[in-house]
Amino acid sequence: MAENNKVRGGLLVKKIKTTFFCQNCGHQSAKWLGKCPSCSEWNQFVEEEIRDVLPQGSQEAGFNDEPIPIDTIMADEKDRLLTGISEIDRVLGGGIVGGSATLIGGEPGIGKSTLLLQAMQKLAEGGLVALYVSGEESASQIKLRGRRVGASSKNLIVLVEVALENILRHISEIKPGIVVVDSIQTVYSSALSSAPGSVSQIREASGRLILQAKKSGIPLFLIGHVTKEGAIAGPKILEHMVDTVLYFEGDSGHAFRIVRNVKNRYGPTNEIGVFEMRESGLSEVSNPSALFLSERPQGAAGSVVVPSMEGTRPVLVEIQSLVSENSFGIPRRTTIGVDHNRVSLLAAVMEKICGLHLGNQDIFINVAGGVKLDEPAVDLGIISSMMSSFLDRAIDFGTVVCGEVGLTGEVRGVGRMDERIKEASRMGFSRCVMPGRMTSDEILPDTGMARIKIDTIKKLQEYLF
Ligand code: TYD
Ligand code: MG
Repeated sequence: MAENNKVRGGLLVKKIKTTFFCQNCGHQSAKWLGKCPSCSEWNQFVEEEIRDVLPQGSQEAGFNDEPIPIDTIMADEKDRLLTGISEIDRVLGGGIVGGSATLIGGEPGIGKSTLLLQAMQKLAEGGLVALYVSGEESASQIKLRGRRVGASSKNLIVLVEVALENILRHISEIKPGIVVVDSIQTVYSSALSSAPGSVSQIREASGRLILQAKKSGIPLFLIGHVTKEGAIAGPKILEHMVDTVLYFEGDSGHAFRIVRNVKNRYGPTNEIGVFEMRESGLSEVSNPSALFLSERPQGAAGSVVVPSMEGTRPVLVEIQSLVSENSFGIPRRTTIGVDHNRVSLLAAVMEKICGLHLGNQDIFINVAGGVKLDEPAVDLGIISSMMSSFLDRAIDFGTVVCGEVGLTGEVRGVGRMDERIKEASRMGFSRCVMPGRMTSDEILPDTGMARIKIDTIKKLQEYLF
């Protein structure tokens, strides 16, 4: 921690304490570092002023609650606010909890402002006063967006402001039913001299907004930009402070948008909400499997469908592989939507167990539609897809594949098999390749799906090709 004692005219003016913060993850360091030891990002450290003491009035800023026995506390699940947009309610784990703080992150232009403006409009229509604080756009720009998405309720109040103290004052004066701050990176507190968007400003602003939300019971939404450059700090540094974290997945190159819940203190995580960006804002997609499979090529080697559990909902997604010989240099392993290390591991298992020589092959894997798959149940799908491309043999169009793969090539059981099979059957699939050791009472008997049980990936190869 550096202390710069400023001497002006023979007088010691003020001690300014500064420290360096990683703008990506918030890691603190006494000196400038090129590479962050915590998140391994380069060129993220920025010097910021820090404060020793809490700002004036912080004593009263605490909760000032009395300790009480848990059985006397009143709380009701039914208190959740429903937006009426079911994909939003679902991704929040069944509506918005009173006094909760939700962070919603994503790249610029992906649709954060649009989504929240639409949600606020729905709540405002229902009679709730919604306060939309924007530090990014002028009131007329918000009005124009509002026109596109049909946001015109008189209960939807727009405040263009970036000064934290003013925002807090307006919230306590208006006493809205819900608050959105778009975006947290534009808000700054005059108590700190560092620039808006710096780690200390973002922490200060969110900390005080969240405290007010908890004290007043008004739910709060904070929008955070995810950027590649280190100019503004990312929303990652806020994840531990809020109750719920939602991220837009994929990029704005696709027409549809996936919002994933990565942290939820009041419900299941990993839940996704799927939307399509239209002329009139985001519209919900209630059958994501159909959307993700809509462009699946028929009879193409390298393509396979897996039933993946996204939160509480099974979704069918297509995994595509391209395995081709690399005649020069080190073979590449490039993946989009699945973990890079997992793919390397599975490729090694395939090589060892099935004798397929992938050592001199480039491997490219893509999950169609920009979905990110991170459950081990998709292992068997990744392997099938790589085998299919390597052998240049297509997998049967009506087959789905599901199972976890161990290092000895054994296929392990996965959870919620019945729901996955049901979804595959609903989407017209007739066969499911699945782990052999799953007993029949773990799966529904009445879907009419042929279940092909396999124990090892050697058997998978024999069955599929
Ligand atoms: P926006 O919500 O402003 O993104 P963010 O707040 O995450 O930066 O979304 C901007 C994009 O959405 C922009 O490319 C235009 C597009 N869009 C539509 O296609 N239709 C619409 O009705 C709206 C409002 C935006
Ligand atoms: Mg925006």
